[in-house]
Amino acid sequence: MNDLKLQAARKAVEFVEDGMVLGLGTGSTTRLAVDEIGKLVKDGFRLVGVPTSIETERQARSLNIPLSTLEEVGEIDLTIDGADEVDPQFRLIKGLGGALLREKMVAYYSKREIIIVDSSKMVGVLGVKTPLPVEVVQFGHRRTKAALEKLGCIASLRGGDQPFVTDNGNLIYDCKFDAIADPERMDSDIGAIPGVVENGLFIGLATSVIVGTEGGAVIRERI
Ligand code: A5P
Repeated sequence: MNDLKLQAARKAVEFVEDGMVLGLGTGSTTRLAVDEIGKLVKDGFRLVGVPTSIETERQARSLNIPLSTLEEVGEIDLTIDGADEVDPQFRLIKGLGGALLREKMVAYYSKREIIIVDSSKMVGVLGVKTPLPVEVVQFGHRRTKAALEKLGCIASLRGGDQPFVTDNGNLIYDCKFDAIADPERMDSDIGAIPGVVENGLFIGLATSVIVGTEGGAVIRERI
């Protein structure tokens, strides 16, 4: 599986050009891409990265990739990030790594968002395999959980008795639906619940998907 991730990561980094501002995603697949970006910097590319998590920031610093923030840079030329599920319309579930809020913000301000996955992440319908992560504020979070469950899921607090706390100081509920038949509707229903900060549905943000397959990396562009 790691080979497939590496194929996708390397193919995505072929789109990096000297002078670009890059969004740096989070997760095991993106980690491989960030390593490749580090090699470009070593070779003399003048790049600036905007990391989507403290974990990615640490990795980028260790590779001497110059970093900036969303406030400081103008537009982001290209973001490379992973995903947990990708459907045929390039709608995604993200956030099993816990970085969904910053990932979504960086994606929103990116001219191009390349998603890198191995073939196991490609699905017909979102939510059948993985839960949908939802980031919530700590205040009243059990009420937020109950409101989420009214939408038809079982919501589990990530970390249980020792809750996982995001880089933004919030909690995550992993919401398992049987399937998410209408992601746009679900996105808006979840967004309407007070206490929800962000959810892991990424709609209309991915411009390309690069899939690592046994036969090589396959690039798909949003039509
Ligand atoms: C991080 O919060 C996530 O959105 C990741 O991008 C996603 O979980 C994919 O991670 P892997 O590449 O480790 O599967």
